Amino acid sequence: MYAAFRSIGAYVPEKILTNAELSKMVDTTDEWITKRTGIKERRIAAANETTSDMAVQAAEKAIERSGISKEDIDMIVVATISPDYFNMPSTATVVAHKMGLDKVTAFDISAACTGFIYVLSIAKAFIESGMKKNVLIIGAEKMSAITDYTDRGTCILFGDGAGAAMICATDNKEEAITDIHTAADGSLGDFLMTPDGGTGNPHQAELKAEASFIQMKGNETFKIAVRTLTNDVVEILAENNTKASQIKHFIPHQANYRIIKAVGDALKLEKEQVVLTVHKYGNTSGASIPMAMNDLYEEGNLKTGELMLLDAFGGGLTWGSALLPFAGK
Ligand code: UT7
Repeated sequence: MYAAFRSIGAYVPEKILTNAELSKMVDTTDEWITKRTGIKERRIAAANETTSDMAVQAAEKAIERSGISKEDIDMIVVATISPDYFNMPSTATVVAHKMGLDKVTAFDISAACTGFIYVLSIAKAFIESGMKKNVLIIGAEKMSAITDYTDRGTCILFGDGAGAAMICATDNKEEAITDIHTAADGSLGDFLMTPDGGTGNPHQAELKAEASFIQMKGNETFKIAVRTLTNDVVEILAENNTKASQIKHFIPHQANYRIIKAVGDALKLEKEQVVLTVHKYGNTSGASIPMAMNDLYEEGNLKTGELMLLDAFGGGLTWGSALLPFAGK
């Protein structure tokens, strides 16, 4: 049995936060943000809009496009670092309940910006082992809830949104997800973290809301991301006897245009091969790859059988890549 990437869906909140607005909140400029990151604006969820609300919107689209009926979904896995609740119930169980699916396997995983590649690998493994047939995977983030809007080093980067995909069993090898790499290096965990709110914080009695905001060693993370991702995509292509020119769509995690360009240049990719949404959504962590893929799909530019290369890097540190054909319609 093989696992096929059957459909894609996404949800983008209405409210736009522009660089000009941010420059009134912190000491920054549109010029600096554009030059250093490629970001022009990002979306911000409404105050009463939760990560699971956005996930459900994305999931409904993915399910409808898959041709699979809801009742046939046997597992939901959500990648998020901004769950509805720390630590339970999981966002996946909230999503399942909101969708009227109360008897599925449902759980969250925490792999930050690499979350979507991780949930894709989990879906693939469960399907190939024969344990599950139709797995709904979701990357959903309300990053605005864990972002410090007084820190110019991070608040210019992040945005909210959700993306979802149906991964389904198939006996057609041509449709199969080719390969997935996932990796982590916990020794660099302090490069990107929300330091408080867990058992690792010895001062829980004094915990303040701000203490669970993202802290990032941006420049250090940037350098390692470029080096690690470049090596990883070169490896996954070589291991699968695939040339960069065979990739129809390179859909990277949308953290920073300069990271995407450096990896794309290392593979000598043409501009048309590289999918970019960072300018309009910023960094939506685990949601960024499926959101970008969904834009491509809705623009009519993602067709059955086209080869995709995904890559992502984020907190943990974690990273990964995936090589797969689009098996949807
Ligand atoms: O998705 C998960 C993984 N995360 C990432 O991949 C993020 C990776 N990091 C980045 O994208 C970049 O490091 C940033 C965009 C966060 C920062 O860009 P940078 O080119 O690495 O800048 P820097 O941190 O080295 O800072 C350069 C200068 C500093 O000033 P001095 O020390 O040279 O005077 C900063 O204080 O830019 C200053 N700076 C800013 N200036 C205006 C930092 N943030 C801002 C800002 N506006 N928002």
